[in-house]
Order: sequence, then C-alpha cells, then structure tokens
Amino acid sequence: MPTPLISGTSAPLRGTIRVPGDKSISHRALILGGLAVGRTRIEGLLEGEDVLRTAAAMRAFGASVERLPGDGNAWVVDGVGIGGLAEPDDVIDCGNAGTGVRLLMGVVAGHPITAIFTGDASLRRRPMARVTAPLLQVGARFVGRNGGQSLPLAVVGAAEPMPISYRLPVPSAQVKSAVLLAGLGAPGVTTVIEPQPTRDHSERMLAHFGAQVAVEAVTGGGRAVALVGQPELRAADIVVPADPSSAAFPAVAALLLPGSEVTLPGVGVNPFRDGLFETLREMGADLVLANPREAGGEPVADLVVRGGGRLKGVTVPAERAPRMIDEYPILAVAAAFAQGRTVMHGLAELRVKESDRLSAVAQGLAVCGVAVTIEGDTLTVEGTGGAPPEGGAAIASRLDHRIAMSFLVLGMAARQPTRIDDGEPIQTSFPGFVPLMNGLGASIAPAADGEEEPS
Ligand code: S3P
Repeated sequence: MPTPLISGTSAPLRGTIRVPGDKSISHRALILGGLAVGRTRIEGLLEGEDVLRTAAAMRAFGASVERLPGDGNAWVVDGVGIGGLAEPDDVIDCGNAGTGVRLLMGVVAGHPITAIFTGDASLRRRPMARVTAPLLQVGARFVGRNGGQSLPLAVVGAAEPMPISYRLPVPSAQVKSAVLLAGLGAPGVTTVIEPQPTRDHSERMLAHFGAQVAVEAVTGGGRAVALVGQPELRAADIVVPADPSSAAFPAVAALLLPGSEVTLPGVGVNPFRDGLFETLREMGADLVLANPREAGGEPVADLVVRGGGRLKGVTVPAERAPRMIDEYPILAVAAAFAQGRTVMHGLAELRVKESDRLSAVAQGLAVCGVAVTIEGDTLTVEGTGGAPPEGGAAIASRLDHRIAMSFLVLGMAARQPTRIDDGEPIQTSFPGFVPLMNGLGASIAPAADGEEEPS
C-alpha cells in the first residue's frame, strides 16, 4: 500500500540523532559473514528492507543469519565457507536492492549452484549486463529476460570458476564487488581495474576477513584491485558506521533551516563516499566532521551541521561523481536554495539507479518552481537565492527512497508544503526517517491519498 506523505514548513532542527547503519557495508557484512568459517557478529546493521532481503538470501544459501534478542541491534552470521553454499530451493527476491542482487550474482557465479533472482518493478528495470558480462568470463551462465540482461534471471554458477582480469567500463562498486566475490571461488588472482575509483568497502572487508587483497594505483588516477582466490575467510566482527548517504538528508535539511544545529554521530567518512560533504563545504555550508576515528576498519566522524548560512552555487566536476553518486538528488535540493547556479557534471549513472534520478530530480524541482536543465549528463539548477523555492507540489517517489526523502526535505524549507505519493520506499534504506526527522523539529505527516496527480 502506498503511503503518501506531506512535509510542511519546519521549525529549526535541533538535536542529536543516530542515522541507521551503512547500506553498502551491511550487505557486504552479511554476504562475507555467510562465506566465512565461524560466527560473525555485526553491530549497527541497517535493518532496512534492502538488507533484510540479503539476510534472507544468505539464509536460503545455507548460512544462519539471526538478530540477537535483547542485544542492541547485534546480528550474528554463521558462515558456510567459500564453496559451501547450498542451492536455494526457491527464487531469491532482492526487492529494491541493486547492491544485494548484483553482489549475490557474483557469489553464485563462483559456486557450482544455480539460483534464480528477481526483484521489485524498479529492480526488474535495472541493467544487469554490467555484471553478467564479467561473470560470463568467470564461467557462469545466465538465462533471463532481455537476452539475459534483466531480472528475473537464472545464474548457473561455474563448476570451475576462472580468475579474470576485468577493466570496469562504468565506475561501479557493485560490478567490482561482484567480480571479486566470484573470484573468491577461483584459483589464482582475480583483478579488477577501475579507471575511476569507487567505494572500497569490499576490499576493506575482504582483508578484514583474512583474504589477500592488493590495491595499486594505475596511471590516470585509477586503481587495480587484486584478490588471491580460494582463501579461507575467517569470521570477523563488524561495526557498521552510520550511513553517510542517509546522514545527507538531515544534514541538508539542517543547512536549509536557519537556527538549526544537528549532530549525527558515527557517520562513515570513507574517502570514496565523502563527495557530498566536500561539495556542501564548497557551497559555504557550516558542516564539521568532528572527532574523526576508525570503527571496524572504516573511518567515521561526528557530523555537526549548523543552518542558516548562505549557500552559493558551485560546479561539481564529473570526477567526483563516484564519491557521491547517491547524493545528487539531495544536493540538487540544496542547490535549489542556493545563491546562483549549481552545475553537476558526469551524471549518466543516475539514469540507472532505483529510478531515472536525473529526470526525477529535474521534473520534481521544476514543479516546485526551480529552474533546472539537463544537457547530456549535466544537471544545472538555478538557485532561488534569498527567497526559498515555492514547493507546494505533488511528487512521484518512483519506488526510489532517495527521491522520496529529497523532496520531503525540500518541503521542510520551501514556501508551500510538498507531498510525495509514497513514503514506503524509504524503508529500504532509512527505517524511522519520519519519526527521527520529526523528533528534530520537522513536520512530516501522512497525507490524504489522491489529492493531486504526482509529477
Ligand atoms: C553501491 C554502489 C553504488 C551505489 C549503491 C551502493 C555499493 O552503485 O549507487 O547505492 O554498495 O556497492 P554503483 O556501484 O553501481 O554505482
């Protein structure tokens, strides 16, 4: 059932909230825990729909995955060891999760088993050829819609997986991770060359579980990641940082509301994820990464954001896109309130996320009274400067959590309340978003259905 929500003018946001655990790291913790020998304890796991689907999948592959009763939100995974996965006796439904399905396809490709994957209407539209192409080289076979490029899709894993060397044609941590996970089952060294570096959680976590992973710089700014196959992964405890991609929403909301001061403790600040924070600072935001430290092999810090300062438009270079790929919708909202023009280059990948985010953002901002253009893979937003954008529109979430949250944030600071047709997708990555935001001072509430056709 869709849950329409309306977000109206908010009081200044004040307080400290712990945003949920990192989605990327949570998927990987469950998968590597399931492939390790022994018991992995995970603290701070994101208990969102996407990750719960991966937990269910790992159970279907024979691992034991349980939430410990009465122990904060600690989870334990008893792994089956590399090569030890069982063949699932039913279709694996990954819901809305691109990361879940693509990483799991890599895992199956390196095992002598067959698994059939599907997902929701959004995931069934998303391209899978980017993972099947390298996994075919590993020795896996695929049967699926669109000539094997779309879910539902059957993966016949390789009986004898081959170690490959693969150069990523698109900057994608999901593809890199799928190849490395398949490489766990192959004898010899699997290498992924990424011309533009992407988030390195897989590399870090594989090393944390005892695999040999070497990372080398390649000319032109890229990296080569080499994994020695057939390691024995040893169970290792994980502490999941708060998700910087979720922290982005209360952070930008606080920036847009004068008098706000919000602290978000323990947020992941992995250098391949921090592009939004850098960009917001360039725009003049009062945003401090306090108390930097390590937690479970990942850098974290407490994010302190103060609102009310003038933001100014900036140009965001294409090279920064992999470091903030999920943050463009909320950056575009911040840009709508800024003084001057913000130009964001290199956004082709936004077209193949949970929705076509380039068009979702452009259409949504336009109906909220913001001048916006798309030229090729460049998005330009004309900030309204002194006066906030009009808002007052109905926005279609398009099964996309980040579109839903971005426009709720816009509604908090716009002149008129903004409505989204469905808040349900927010559960995939940020359960508790509405009460947490309202606890800080927002006013987001259920809306009556069908008042206006969403754009
Ligand atoms: C992710 C990588 C990114 C990102 C996604 C999570 C990951 O996708 O958009 O939300 O966990 O590896 P791509 O690597 O496909 O760009």
